[in-house]
Amino acid sequence: MAPSAADRTGRLSVPEAELSVPGGLPDPLVAADGTPVTSADDWTRRRAELIDLFERHVYGRTPSKRVTMDSEVIASNPGAVEGRATRTEIQLRFAGGPTANLLLYVPNAVTERCPAFLGLNFWGNHELESDPEIVLSQQWMRGHGVGVVGNRATEASRGCEADRWPLAQILDRGYALATMYCGDLDPDYDDGFANGIHPLFYGPGQTRPARDEWGTLGAWAWGLSRALDYLETDSRIDAGQVIAFGHSRLGKAALWAAAQDTRFAMAASNNSGCGGAALSRRRVGETVEAITRRFPHWFCTAFNDYVDREDALPVDQHELIALIAPRPVCIGSAVGDEWADPAGEFLSARYADPVYRLLGVEGFSGTDMPDPGEAVTSRIAYHLRPGGHGITVHDWTRYLDSADRQLGAYLAL
Ligand code: GCU
Repeated sequence: MAPSAADRTGRLSVPEAELSVPGGLPDPLVAADGTPVTSADDWTRRRAELIDLFERHVYGRTPSKRVTMDSEVIASNPGAVEGRATRTEIQLRFAGGPTANLLLYVPNAVTERCPAFLGLNFWGNHELESDPEIVLSQQWMRGHGVGVVGNRATEASRGCEADRWPLAQILDRGYALATMYCGDLDPDYDDGFANGIHPLFYGPGQTRPARDEWGTLGAWAWGLSRALDYLETDSRIDAGQVIAFGHSRLGKAALWAAAQDTRFAMAASNNSGCGGAALSRRRVGETVEAITRRFPHWFCTAFNDYVDREDALPVDQHELIALIAPRPVCIGSAVGDEWADPAGEFLSARYADPVYRLLGVEGFSGTDMPDPGEAVTSRIAYHLRPGGHGITVHDWTRYLDSADRQLGAYLAL
């Protein structure tokens, strides 16, 4: 199939014929043994089956063992973001393992417990603002980051991603924001899982995860749940209204976190692509072959079996979206981000719909791909933004609008 392409007007030209998946998709509402799923109780069983399939074949099993986590507030500034927020830095210490720093902004104008976006960041918490009070991460970083020297951040790295985090906008809309560096949980390179949190869960003599055990995406998703554990203890946050959020590889992790951990009230994935919201079977943009070659550590080893064999996968990514049902989920694509297959992300939203309907709530109300700049604003929301891979104020506005519109309805269920 020809890849989808943006034409000169910026419109994504996706003929209906290309909005399809040759060979079809697994049906979320048919159990592995062929039994139709026709009730909420059936779905509870099917849901467990799908989690198991995603664990064994895609992301790897998340350990059930619990580790003790201590937390300590290491800095607090009540006048951050021009007086809008109280900014707190919290150290989360995992017994016998690494430490992760959570950076939390709570709007001062909100006097009740407030909803929060929680997402990982690419370059350390200092990427959000140039304020030298924020701890400069000492962790390993990928080499091409702003100010990164010898795989470490420097003072020149501060605020390098500020435009991806429109703090004033988020806070003025009444939402808290919590973020953590993904590399605090597991550095993003293939080191055989010697660092990060994986070794904490090894059995005697074990030196790396087994074939069906978690990779880096699984570790990042686990970290989002641990940050939520912390937020549950913070009386300023409504822990029942926490949105798992992420861009790109971190959007993959956010979806997997929300799929597994039903405490997340909503998920927002931005340009998450292959292994995120995009259907693997379409093989448009990044394929299983491409992703496992460049990022072998992201998934479980068993996922390599599906290189050039996407049709043999027992699941596809619309079922990852369905695992979030009946909770709201937002998927954001960009016209020029063909690597992430915007049409494949749209189709995931569309084909997750029947599960939402089975559970008696609105699913996805769109049938045609929206024009760039337009959105489908149902409980499964989808928007297509002009431009390329990245996260912009446009994307944030969509996620904030969806949260305003959908969270209340979900909580009223
Ligand atoms: C690469 C990778 C994608 C990923 C992206 C990102 O492009 O192939 O799968 O989503 O990086 O995280 O920015």
